[in-house]
Amino acid sequence: MIDHVGPGLWLLTTPTCGYAVRLGPDDAPCCAHWGPRLTPDQARALPPGRAELPVEGGGRFGVAGLQVRYGDAVRGVEWRHLGDHIDSGHDGGHLTIRMADRHYPLEIDLHYRVRPGDDAIERWTCLRNTGDEPITILRCDSAAWTVPPRPGYRLSHVTGEWGGEFQVRRTPLAVAETTLTSRRGHSGHHANPWVMLDAGDATEDHGEVWSAALAWSGSWRITVEHDHDGHAGWSGGFGHDGVTRRLGPGESLETPVFTGVYSAEGFGGISHRWHDHIRRHVLPSPGRIRPVIYNSWEAVGFDVTQARQMELAELAADIGVELFVVDDGWFGGRPGAFSGRTGETAGLGDWWPDPERFPGGLTPLIDHVTALGMKFGLWVEPESVNPDSELHRTRPEWVLRQRNRRTTEVRDQLLLDFSRSDVAKWAHEWLDDLVTRNDIAFLKWDMNRPVTEAGDDVWIPFVRNVYAVIDRLRADHPHLMIEGCASGGGRTDLGMLARTDQIWASDNTDPAQRIAVQHGYGQIYPACTMGAWVTDSPNAITSGRAPLDFRFHVAMAGALGIGGDLPRWDADDLRQAKELVARYKEIRPVVHDGRLDRLGDWAVQYTLGPRVVVLSWRPTTLIRVTAPVRLKGLDPGGRYRDEDTGEVHHGALLMSHGLPRPWPFDATSELRRLTRVG
Ligand code: DGJ
Repeated sequence: MIDHVGPGLWLLTTPTCGYAVRLGPDDAPCCAHWGPRLTPDQARALPPGRAELPVEGGGRFGVAGLQVRYGDAVRGVEWRHLGDHIDSGHDGGHLTIRMADRHYPLEIDLHYRVRPGDDAIERWTCLRNTGDEPITILRCDSAAWTVPPRPGYRLSHVTGEWGGEFQVRRTPLAVAETTLTSRRGHSGHHANPWVMLDAGDATEDHGEVWSAALAWSGSWRITVEHDHDGHAGWSGGFGHDGVTRRLGPGESLETPVFTGVYSAEGFGGISHRWHDHIRRHVLPSPGRIRPVIYNSWEAVGFDVTQARQMELAELAADIGVELFVVDDGWFGGRPGAFSGRTGETAGLGDWWPDPERFPGGLTPLIDHVTALGMKFGLWVEPESVNPDSELHRTRPEWVLRQRNRRTTEVRDQLLLDFSRSDVAKWAHEWLDDLVTRNDIAFLKWDMNRPVTEAGDDVWIPFVRNVYAVIDRLRADHPHLMIEGCASGGGRTDLGMLARTDQIWASDNTDPAQRIAVQHGYGQIYPACTMGAWVTDSPNAITSGRAPLDFRFHVAMAGALGIGGDLPRWDADDLRQAKELVARYKEIRPVVHDGRLDRLGDWAVQYTLGPRVVVLSWRPTTLIRVTAPVRLKGLDPGGRYRDEDTGEVHHGALLMSHGLPRPWPFDATSELRRLTRVG
């Protein structure tokens, strides 16, 4: 709900949160409150606080989220309020606060949106040049967020690397400016575009936490400010430092959405709200069932042949897989003319089935897969090209380069200049043709290198054109599912999740290491979007060994896939895998649609209506996790039946004493299913 509750004062109300914006004496829009719900009367008693979009000029010395230069070299903004507009829906609403510069022809709209039954507040900014000279934009953030002054603020975020994404970091917030950023043209393995602050007192279940996440898949920057009096907040948006943009006469610039979520129920409460918001309002096909996938990448690498894929498909179908995906290596090449995609060095850009590996095209394999009762999916990497490819030979001018500069190759590949409309049109055409001519239900859209050699005018249109191609494909092929990937989880953000069904969270499939990746992923992003495979033991990357049920129990915490070399699994493995896939299908609605509670570092609970699922892990024998795990969010007066043992437990005791865990000494993981029976 959004109300105009006084002159220059607006109050946004969500089920558990209140947000007040007030114009300052100089007309600058300021945050008056972000926290628990307020009455209009309480909101009226609040003075304006920090700026909603900090600008340069006057006695302002902090981080400027909006930095502009006019034709006469004057900088900054002096605010003038033009009006407002509120679109009210049932419990939701969209507020536009219309502002302009007092002198220069620049209009600035601040947008706020709340949705019924949802605690998230979505914010973005729109600039318009209403004059007849260009304006230079050095920075235009989506929004700044302010938290109330408190001693001891703490910053939570994730760091990482390839194979080790989403590592949660929780550190005292420096009395300084702390910048989280990606300059890589994608959201990054090393960081992720979200931030959380708490006053150092929040736990998993208690205390106030303020957070925000950016819906952008290119470079980004979030700068958190903290002064010695305990004032704190952050400004964030697309783009990284040093990239400027020209806003021509009549042109406008709209930023991505920067969504804020507040919870007084600790880090768990924040995650619940993010998961609900993303599932209901961000994902393009809410409620869609994520099929159990088989993906051959770890099993065969680039050795993709029709015969081997057919053999894998037969075994996959037998254990209950629902969708069979052929990864990298199916395309490119002309016999006797140039190489196909038999390794990293060639073929990217040549999006036709390799005539040697698939002499009859993809149809025989797709027919085989569908006859086995599975859907078919294919890996693509539309933004990239190998120098050794037909595309590069015929369209060298499509490569993203800068005059007089070396062109950087990463993984033997270059990037296409996706900011060009002809490149985006070409990509759309071959993708559309691929999914129109073939019975393809799923694409894995990969991007295996960062952006380099991009001019100032490339960074934003590059991402927007990627979005446009995916959006059009989805609109024209509503059945199509898409998995986002960038060498694992390198492009995971609300922008990608608005147009994909799931994300390949990491190339590291070692279950003992993946627990931490999944723990970080799930702080914001819901389990139904988290691709997770069961692969071989020893693990291809880490050489770590793990029993099959442990591998399954970790992957079952997300959107399950199988990635092992099935012909090497023995009959016992295949039989056990079949049982575990069936078990997963039965708990899938609870895992994907239920509330996720973290029970310490080594267990998660999902609750949906009367059903409860608990997955717990003991990743090394050094960790003797034998203490009972205490469940959360149950009805204390309820009784819950253990579906495997038949025992009935009191809700109150499950929460205070915990779930009895009669683990045998050598067990490494466990799946428990409970149903409320009274
Ligand atoms: C990186 C992805 O993360 C892998 O799963 C796989 O698809 C490879 N790219 C293929 O090149």
